[in-house]
Amino acid sequence: MSQCRVCNSNYEPFINFGPQPIANGFIPEEKSNDEYFFEMKVGHCENCNMVQLIDQPDREKMFHGEYPFFSSLSKHMQVHFKNFAETVTTRFLTQNPNPFVVEIGCNDGIMLKNFAEKNIKHLGVEPSENVAKVAEEKGIRVTSRFFDYDLAAETRDKFGPADAILSANVICHIPYIDSIFSGVEKLLSEKGVFVYEDPYLGDIVEKTSYDQIYDEHVFFFSAISVSYLSEKFNLELIDVEAQPTHGGSMRYYIARKGAYQPAENVAKLITKEKELGLDKPETFERFRANVEKSREDLVGLLKKLKNEGKRVVGYGATSKSTTVLNYCNIDRELIEFISDTTPLKQGKVSPGKHIPIKPYESFKEDFPDYALLFAWNHRKEIMEKEGDFSANRKWITYVPEVQIF
Ligand code: SAH
Ligand code: TMP
Ligand code: ZN
Repeated sequence: MSQCRVCNSNYEPFINFGPQPIANGFIPEEKSNDEYFFEMKVGHCENCNMVQLIDQPDREKMFHGEYPFFSSLSKHMQVHFKNFAETVTTRFLTQNPNPFVVEIGCNDGIMLKNFAEKNIKHLGVEPSENVAKVAEEKGIRVTSRFFDYDLAAETRDKFGPADAILSANVICHIPYIDSIFSGVEKLLSEKGVFVYEDPYLGDIVEKTSYDQIYDEHVFFFSAISVSYLSEKFNLELIDVEAQPTHGGSMRYYIARKGAYQPAENVAKLITKEKELGLDKPETFERFRANVEKSREDLVGLLKKLKNEGKRVVGYGATSKSTTVLNYCNIDRELIEFISDTTPLKQGKVSPGKHIPIKPYESFKEDFPDYALLFAWNHRKEIMEKEGDFSANRKWITYVPEVQIF
């Protein structure tokens, strides 16, 4: 029995992925026999409908001065965050002549850059010092700390209330969710908005994209659970917008209760989620069966290719790939190496299964028979880049099912 982080009800796991390492814990080969593992289980609270990790490693194990994820490496994501900033500006920031914008988890400044360039007052909160430093070098004001209630109160004292608090792919990382939502409530101005997006539970269930589940992702949100959570803090979900990023995300617009008339989209999405069964235990039982089948299919395919003497490499040493490799028990016998454009990952080995990470050049110069697309969420961008070069080579994906394309 575990206790729900949102409503304190008891709940049980519906799936166990076994021992998993730190998803972004890429390590030098010589240090690879001394790794931290935790038992990764997920459960669904039948009271508030929050889907969550049972246990999560300590935050300092995941976010620190050598955090290897740099948001701006993806060109498509740069465009996405420029649009995000513009949407929020035109919809919410025209009333106040001198608005204040806060971003929780600004990473290398991919979104705040768009506010800084327009001299809009802003503050980025980013605990991983190395990525925070990259943001600072772009002229962005950053505090390298973890966002929580105390930091929110301090920020309000120092800079005044925030007209917009923004966040992408961060809120789902934070287990002390009460401190985040009460902090947001403290920091927001009267008509202020909290706009955040994260991988969407509906997409994960529909696409069997179980690789969205890893140490950093403690919550898998839906409009149902976010509504519940908002109400608990006297806030209200006023709009939702589906996003194509990270294989299907949802953007949530939250404000003080009564500050805005909620858009029809909210009720519509909640109805759709009930039709999809995101409030029913059977849905998650079915999800588990689909995950098990996905593992069988992927391992079966990789073993078959190996028997045929084919060379398979991985494309994109994503944090998501850590779940797939460790859950499916795939090592360098089946995947020769993984190509990745992040300098901090190159020359190291993957967490848990110790597959070598090589720079993109190794992939281009030594092209394999098959490339397993771990960065499937960037498929469009990657296909544009690979173009004709890969026309007679083959790709493997496992979302929504195991397939060669
Ligand atoms: N917003 C970026 C980065 C997402 S990666 C994007 O969408 O690409 C997640 C980031 O959240 C990391 O940079 C991590 O350091 C940061 N983070 C984790 N816990 C946090 C907290 N409590 N407050 C603020 N940032 C946090
Ligand atoms: P993400 O799925 O968490 O955004 O991580 C994407 C990873 O894939 C990151 O380590 C960078 C890498 N990558 C490439 O190697 N080539 C590419 O073209 C893209 C878009 C990403
Ligand atoms: Zn609950």
